[in-house]
Amino acid sequence: MTRYARIAGTGSCLPPQRLSNVDIVAMLAARGVETSDEWIVERTGIRARHFVADGVYASDMALQACRQALEASALSASDIDLIIVATSTPDMVFPSTAAILQHKLGVAGCPAFDVQAVCSGFIYALTVADAMIRTGGARNALVVGSEVFSRLLDFNDRTTCVLFGDGAGAVVLQASDTPGILATDIHADGKHTGILCVPGHVSGGQILGDPLLKMDGQAVFKLAVGVLEDTARTVLEKAGRTTADVDWLIPHQANIRIMQSTARKLKLPMERVVVTVDEHGNTSAASIPLALDHAVRQGQIKKGDTLLLEGVGGGFTWGSVVLDF
Ligand code: UT7
Repeated sequence: MTRYARIAGTGSCLPPQRLSNVDIVAMLAARGVETSDEWIVERTGIRARHFVADGVYASDMALQACRQALEASALSASDIDLIIVATSTPDMVFPSTAAILQHKLGVAGCPAFDVQAVCSGFIYALTVADAMIRTGGARNALVVGSEVFSRLLDFNDRTTCVLFGDGAGAVVLQASDTPGILATDIHADGKHTGILCVPGHVSGGQILGDPLLKMDGQAVFKLAVGVLEDTARTVLEKAGRTTADVDWLIPHQANIRIMQSTARKLKLPMERVVVTVDEHGNTSAASIPLALDHAVRQGQIKKGDTLLLEGVGGGFTWGSVVLDF
């Protein structure tokens, strides 16, 4: 009998501090940096984002998201035999945020590791967990995206600091006789490192290079719209499905204009696209599982729906997953 991996439950976490565009405009004005609600909404679709409080880390938000996902799947932490966290903002250089999360969940022994593929991280993590479950390496996996991008932002750079937020999303991925994940497709092209990066690193007790986020927005935009169409078509073909079979497209939530462009190219009406960028901003690896959990809890996504998940980001990385929910 074929073994599949299917989502048994979802969960998420948004830090309580919500900053509307008006709040961020005022915050930047105090530094002499000019922006406006109109510019942010028109160019990105973002109206608000959430920022963590001091002392809160990626593993803390991941913990809350995992507790919800476990509750939704009627499992307990002791049933979990694999933990993968997608993050570019880990608690520490090492150990992994997944290992720290495992301890906070009160369990020990199962493999726990991080995946670093920036905004495509959750798609990468889901791909790895799917492969491990299908080949018998795990039965009940926690797959998480958790990010604290607010700590990487340069609040003197209006071209980037208005775009990002913090949050976490998680799924329990479980072995099943029925699908489940139908196909996955992941890619990277390292020659584009410079267009989206945090170039600093720790060396000899100091941070060398610039530890704040740098992005050439237009270059990322152009690459993103191309690869998102390509990977969507590839993954659907692998799954033996067409865009007509897709009930919900859940794209990485970076910019509403990128989502609209992808939907248009795939001939999917915006009514079938999950959009949370307005309220969450860009939460990198957390954006897809956050949007998924939001749509599940809103009652938009129902059991049996076919979902197309798509990520794109620094690396350059991109990829997609098609699944029956
Ligand atoms: O998560 C990983 C994936 N990341 C993405 O997908 C991001 C992709 N890129 C984007 O979403 C868009 O390129 C941005 C939202 C970053 C920028 O939008 P854009 O339409 O490409 O704007 P632009 O960079 O062409 O800038 C247009 C103008 C410039 O002024 P001038 O040179 O025309 O006078 C900018 O200086 O807008 C100005 N500008 C701003 N104005 C007010 C840039 N940022 C701001 C701002 N407020 N925050």
